Amino acid sequence: MTLNLDTLEQWVSPSIRSLASKTVGPHKDDQAIRLDKGELPYPPSPKVVEAITQVATTCNRYPAVLGGVLRERLATYTGASPEQLIISNGSDDLIELIIKVFVQPGQQVLLPVPSFFVYWHATQVMGGVPVFVQRTPDFGLDVDALVAKVAPDTKVLYIANPNNPTANLVARETLVEVLNRVNCMVVVDECYFELCQTTIADLVDTYPHLIVLRSLSKSFGLAGLRIGYGIANTQVVDYLYRAAQLFPVNKVAISAGIAALKDQAYVEANIQKILAEKPRLQQALTDLGLKVHPSETNFLLVDTQPLNLQSKVLVKALQEQNIWVADFGSKPGLGDHYFRTAVGTPAENQALLKGLEVAISQSTSV
Ligand SMILES: Cc1ncc(COP(=O)(O)O)c(C=O)c1O
Repeated sequence: MTLNLDTLEQWVSPSIRSLASKTVGPHKDDQAIRLDKGELPYPPSPKVVEAITQVATTCNRYPAVLGGVLRERLATYTGASPEQLIISNGSDDLIELIIKVFVQPGQQVLLPVPSFFVYWHATQVMGGVPVFVQRTPDFGLDVDALVAKVAPDTKVLYIANPNNPTANLVARETLVEVLNRVNCMVVVDECYFELCQTTIADLVDTYPHLIVLRSLSKSFGLAGLRIGYGIANTQVVDYLYRAAQLFPVNKVAISAGIAALKDQAYVEANIQKILAEKPRLQQALTDLGLKVHPSETNFLLVDTQPLNLQSKVLVKALQEQNIWVADFGSKPGLGDHYFRTAVGTPAENQALLKGLEVAISQSTSV
């Protein structure tokens, strides 16, 4: 049979057909200043690199099911039991898995915005319906508005805490109020936990509808290996694992994760470097006339409105200098005037500031 491509397109699920194509994005060379993905600018611990080298020779074998020893080490690290933990191919993987388990096509996922785009992308992939609820002007949660939006077919609520891209934390009492008032799964994404040391993971037994997400991408500097994990009631973890792939986390990542958890001193030293650099960068950006939102993470949300410039203009002018930040102009819940930059090394931050000086003078002189 010769298949007409129009017919093929009709075979694709409508929820996938309506999504945007992925592109490789612009080329970034070795000289690029890369602050657009919120990554740690420092390499993994030398002990992690050694563990990766050692495990490489055994990659003819499949990895351990349920994460093997990494699950036990994460239990020690988090204070949860191994049965309360699920390990995934980055926390992105878990965001999608939760929707697979709890949301049927046409059902709703509640999303306070601005927030992390993967929540609504994963919802759409699974045929769910994202429902956006605007955060307050200071990016807090409007609990009454959230509760008012919970319908019988609302199945999951995603709250990043601290939030991406706004970098702020919502107080524990507010999250507890949400847990007490909504009748659906509540996912609290603590991807930046090590930077703010604020968690509600201790509440997973009190609230079986709570799932806490964590990641080894940011503070542990393992974004390229894709290791995320969730903490939840054992029954929730059991259901999530039933739907997961048999080997979602590869063998190299498991060994690297174990070594990274062992080298806490390295993680702590990197966090201290970021925390020392962050206020300097905040002040210097403010001195350039930009508004910088308070940050509990390793990135900053920058408002370009005080300069009367749309963020896309500045972001493009930076790209022309091979400096990359993320444009958040016109993303759900935000206006035209926001970009996000990671806190990089002192040299990277200096390059960003110099680049912005050029970008601002070019943009205001046209
Ligand atoms: C709030 C939040 N959750 C999850 C992720 C994804 O983390 P991972 O690399 O573990 O998939 C990010 C990455 O930027 C994030 O900001």
